[in-house]
Amino acid sequence: MSGSFGPRVTDSLDPAPYAELTDLFVEPDSRRLGVASRLLKYLEGIARERGATHLVVQTGQKNTEAQTFYRSAGYEEYAVAMRKALKGSAP
Ligand SMILES: CC(C)(COP(=O)(O)OP(=O)(O)OC[C@H]1O[C@@H](n2cnc3c(N)ncnc32)[C@H](O)[C@@H]1OP(=O)(O)O)[C@@H](O)C(=O)NCCC(=O)NCCS
Repeated sequence: MSGSFGPRVTDSLDPAPYAELTDLFVEPDSRRLGVASRLLKYLEGIARERGATHLVVQTGQKNTEAQTFYRSAGYEEYAVAMRKALKGSAP
């Protein structure tokens, strides 16, 4: 996970803060053993303790394996993410 360990709890116009998680990664040799499932449960607990009502996860549109993983953990699509490269920004 990027930054400090754990989900980011984010203020928004919504009165209830929500938590965000990106870059969950399990070493290839350790996959399908339930590592990410246990990590996700743990992070959901931290997010709840910090006052978040939801945990939002992000993964690539083409990353069907990760999408299957998140769906199996109870997550569902709720938004479309869009982005644009900023001209002149650092690579
Ligand atoms: C996605 C990822 C984090 C899953 O980690 P993991 O420790 O293997 O996941 P778990 O063992 O907890 O899987 C739990 C369930 O999710 C589903 N699942 C996980 N990986 C899957 C895959 N490759 N294909 C289909 N279903 C999958 C299964 O239902 C699985 O249960 P099962 O093994 O009993 O069938 C791991 O594959 C990974 O690091 N991928 C590369 C990085 C990435 O895409 N990260 C996520 C987005 S940033």
